[in-house]
Amino acid sequence: MKLSPKIILLGPPGSGKGTQAKRISEFCKSPHISTGEILRKAVSGTDKTARRIKFYMNKGKLVPDEIIFSIIRKHLKKTDAKKGFVLDGFPRNVQQSEVLKKILGDVDLIVFNLKVGTDTIIRRLSGRRVCKVCGSNYHMEFQPPKFDEKCDRCKLKLYQRDDDKQVAIKNRLKVYEMESKPLVRYYQKKGFLISTNGERSEEKIFSTIKKYLK
Ligand code: AP5
Repeated sequence: MKLSPKIILLGPPGSGKGTQAKRISEFCKSPHISTGEILRKAVSGTDKTARRIKFYMNKGKLVPDEIIFSIIRKHLKKTDAKKGFVLDGFPRNVQQSEVLKKILGDVDLIVFNLKVGTDTIIRRLSGRRVCKVCGSNYHMEFQPPKFDEKCDRCKLKLYQRDDDKQVAIKNRLKVYEMESKPLVRYYQKKGFLISTNGERSEEKIFSTIKKYLK
């Protein structure tokens, strides 16, 4: 069985976790598990759980733990986490990281922390557009689609995430400061943390990350 590293991406909203996670996942040939993506698919349903998830996400708040834990258990099992993975959006607070430790046992992790300032975050999130069909991410300034606001691949109109609107962005930043930032120290103490400047270009950030993947 070929093993790949077990990777976690930390960083504030819009720091580029999803962008780098995709690259790492292709490079390491290991599954990209994004709780944000999984939840966005789940809210397309009309049942009670879907409505509940939507309520929290649209406000920029954390979705309740019992929903997240059941998602993460299922996905880590499905993708055979023993071989390696890239976790993007989980864990999001110390409690979640303790649950992850229980699921995985005592294993080595590589935790990349993308450091980005508030001005950059706001610029990145307010300019982001997404394709509902294939999930491709664009940015109206940094990575615009070729035609209008349409996906290069699917040719359908791109949309702006509800939580990329101003009020939700503010909440997400607050939640990050209170809930997720303490994870930086948590993983630093364990000796797993690699912090890098997330303000650089996607390529430059990935070339730093790659050095730790060999
Ligand atoms: P989630 O989808 O995980 O949102 P997030 O953490 O706020 O992160 P984003 O997806 O907004 O940004 P990112 O860091 O991935 O950056 P990206 O690469 O897209 O979660 C959404 C919600 O789900 C949460 O608010 C919560 O409600 C819920 N949730 C999820 N996980 C949960 C959990 N574990 N527990 C409870 N609730 C949970 O890049 C952003 C933009 O910038 C893009 O347009 C991109 O093209 C551009 N960009 C990226 N890198 C660069 C670069 N280097 N230079 C220029 N532009 C760049």
